[in-house]
This record gives sequence, structure tokens and C-alpha cells, in this order.
Amino acid sequence: MPAKSTKKTKPTVVTIDGKARYHEPAPTGIDLESFHQVVISRRSVRKFTDKAIPQAVLDDCLDMALLAPCSSGLQPWEFFVVRSAGKKAKLVKACMSQLAAKTAAELIVCVARTDRIDEFSRKMLREWPMPDVPKLVQRYYQLIPYNYAPGPLNSFALVKKAAFSLGGMVAAVPRGPYTKSEVELWAAKSTALACENLVLAFRAHGFDTCMMEGFDEVRVRKLLNLGDASMPIMVVGAGERADDGVFWPQVRFERELFVHEV
Ligand SMILES: Cc1cc2nc3c(=O)[nH]c(=O)nc-3n(C[C@H](O)[C@H](O)[C@H](O)COP(=O)(O)O)c2cc1C
Repeated sequence: MPAKSTKKTKPTVVTIDGKARYHEPAPTGIDLESFHQVVISRRSVRKFTDKAIPQAVLDDCLDMALLAPCSSGLQPWEFFVVRSAGKKAKLVKACMSQLAAKTAAELIVCVARTDRIDEFSRKMLREWPMPDVPKLVQRYYQLIPYNYAPGPLNSFALVKKAAFSLGGMVAAVPRGPYTKSEVELWAAKSTALACENLVLAFRAHGFDTCMMEGFDEVRVRKLLNLGDASMPIMVVGAGERADDGVFWPQVRFERELFVHEV
């Protein structure tokens, strides 16, 4: 199932409160029990069998990853499925020869990028999925490249921070991302969400995964020839869970430590 590409199809428009509105009804009949099973049965698997993952399954999981929510819709991610035996061996070494990497049928390097913000903002406006781009949306995507440009040595970022700090004394204002590292964090957040979609999709297909940030970034960058604006966020190892692939029961602390109703 190839990924959907954005096309100017005719959207369903209905009239709500006298205004023409895009209408996408919430789907019904989703099997909640299956959803729970997928989430609950996902574990970090450190040992896989030698069963291959069918190409259609791999493609579907990657397509599910690409449907993750992303800040401003700007899809700041990239996924490298490392297939060549030579590259794979190097990647396993870069993952410090972790068993999860060594035994995985597939290794996917998930990368966050900060250098396609301008290009994708323009693409968004070109490929807007409705006949007309609302003025506000137009303005938003025209401004984004300026908002997210830190400038040399974060110079633009510092000016923006100062200006917004002043403005923030009287109203709610965006406090970032302005600096280079804030923009990197911005890209990493959305990429991590895509990683979660990826691993849940594998689980739904009966395969398992291990997210790994235990890798030598310099070696991974070199292997994939990544530029400065590309950050490997994690390597996902995927395959069929071996009988002894999960090393211990899942540990989660008391809910009260994490969930607050305020
Ligand atoms: C960002 C991230 C990085 C991780 N890196 C590694 C890793 O390098 N090696 C590993 O064996 N597990 C790694 N894990 C798996 C965690 O150890 C695991 O998720 C955690 O112990 C909870 O277990 P569970 O995933 O089975 O619920 C990573 C998980 C995340 C989210």
C-alpha cells in the first residue's frame, strides 16, 4: 500500500452555522480491544528470530509512521531502511553491537531534519488540499521560515526571544523554537511521534521492535552521509520476537507520579 500523496481532490464541504466547512466525519466501529492489545503488547524486544519482514508489511509500517502528527504539518522526519549487508554490518557496530540490532530483520534509522522548513512551507501552500488557501494559512506558512530561522550564532533567535519576552509581559506569545537547539528539539518531537507510530504498526502486523538511542551518532551520520541539519533520533530494530526476546516484565511506576488533574 503506497503512501498517499497530497492531491487537490475535491473535499467534502458542508454548511455549518451558515459557513462552508470541510467535513471529515469521525470514524466509528474502531475495535478498541485491538487497539489496547497493540499498545499493551508492544515491548522492547532485544532478540529476534531470523524471519524476514514482508516488504508489504514494512511499507505499511513506514506509511503509518508518515501519518504521525507533526508540528505545523511540516513532516521534519526521514527514515532510512538500511538494506545493504555492508551498511547493515556497520550500523550494527554503530549500535554498539546490541543484540537487538544484531538480530533485527530490519534496521531503520529515524532522522529529524531542520533544513526543509522553508521548502516544505512552500510545498504546503502549493499542495494545500482545498481549492483556496485561507489567508491566515497563507500568512502562517509565509512566516514560518522566518520564525524558525535561528540566524548565524543564534543571532536572530536572541532578538526574537528578547522581543517576545517583552510582548509576553502583556499577552501569551510563542517562546520558541528560536535557537538552533530549540529548532532541533522541535524536529525531534515530531520525529519521535512518527517512531511510535512505526513501532505500533509493526506490533499490529505481529512483528516487534526495539527503539535504540544507544548508537554512535558520528558513525551513523557518516554511514548515511547526513548533513548538519539531519539528526539521527533513534534506530529502530524490527523483526519477529524470539521466545526469549523480552528480557523482563514491563515496569511502570504508580500512575499518581505522572498523571495530574489540576
Ligand atoms: C528513545 C529511546 C531509546 C532507547 N534506546 C534503547 C537502546 O539503545 N537499547 C535498548 O535495548 N533499548 C532501548 N530503549 C528501550 C527502553 O529501554 C524501553 O522502552 C524501556 O525499558 C521500557 O520497556 P518497554 O519498551 O518494553 O516498555 C529505548 C527506548 C526509547 C524510547
